[in-house]
Amino acid sequence: MLGQSIRARIEAMLPRGLSAWAEAAKSWRPRVKSRLERFADRRAFWAAFVGRAWAGAERAPEEADFEALLAGTPERRGGSVTLVGAGPGDPELLTMKAVRALQTATIILHDDLVAPEILDLARREAVRIAVGKRGHGPSVRQSEIDSRLVALAQAGETVVRLKGGDPLIFGRATEEIEACRAAGIAVEIIPGISAAQGAAAALGFSLTERRVARRIQFVTGHGADGELPADLDWSSVADPAATTIVYMPRATMSQFAAAAIAAGLDPATPALAVANATRADQNHVAASLASIAGLAEGLPAGAPVILIVGQVARSATEAVKLLRAA
Ligand SMILES: C[S@@+](CC[C@H](N)C(=O)[O-])C[C@H]1O[C@@H](n2cnc3c(N)ncnc32)[C@H](O)[C@@H]1O
Repeated sequence: MLGQSIRARIEAMLPRGLSAWAEAAKSWRPRVKSRLERFADRRAFWAAFVGRAWAGAERAPEEADFEALLAGTPERRGGSVTLVGAGPGDPELLTMKAVRALQTATIILHDDLVAPEILDLARREAVRIAVGKRGHGPSVRQSEIDSRLVALAQAGETVVRLKGGDPLIFGRATEEIEACRAAGIAVEIIPGISAAQGAAAALGFSLTERRVARRIQFVTGHGADGELPADLDWSSVADPAATTIVYMPRATMSQFAAAAIAAGLDPATPALAVANATRADQNHVAASLASIAGLAEGLPAGAPVILIVGQVARSATEAVKLLRAA
């Protein structure tokens, strides 16, 4: 009974036309089998079918859909690569486009930071390959990821390259896009919510609070050699009206704070280090710029951390107090 009632409720939430697509799937199955010999092609047909069904859920499928799907199978079309932003952790923050891409992928190459609940949204049969990159720990070389993407797409796979946050923010996307384009492979990019936006929303404050912030800047705490980049624009970091978000700040946080203070930023400037933003185990510490690094050492080892420096971090502390009091 409970099962029936759950099914009825789920069906009530789905677009009505979807049941016509489900019927079509049943009746088309024998034709798909006879027209497409290779298992990989049939898998690609059904992957594309799912995407088309969701996109056309308000109408019934037609013969033209069948032919278009057949014409679009990898054997005839060639594979593709889609860079997808997985957001900072909470699966609810994925875009609808991202979910659709996951549900049509035949292969997913994903970062370490992507939560298992997000990978669960992909089709069961999709092959998942971890190509983790954690700072300077053991990781797959970028050039290897690039050539793998190209080889898989050339073999006709529908490849999703799933990256934490937004793929275009500190995500080494350029190398992957260039490798695909050089090989003549179509690349689509689906943006995601970056860690900075996720952290600010989860803690309930504005990154550009107009009474105190005139600009927002994303910088990296981790250069190609693992050190704090010497060529950061320290005069911008020292701007008291800026909100500075430091990605990958853990190993170099005390150096960052010292350099910002040496460049003229008030040591009392509010700072916030947020670990695992938007996840169930989110955690943060708030302090002055001068003392944030010491406190941040207490955040869970191995957790992704983002550092937010600027007057807006004070309102974050106040917002958290209000949230706690509510
Ligand atoms: C290689 S960068 C990728 C950034 C990602 N493309 C984005 O837009 O968020 C990895 C860094 O992002 C930050 N990060 C990613 N997810 C995070 C989260 N849930 N909480 C805090 N920081 C996070 C951390 O600074 C981490 O070291």
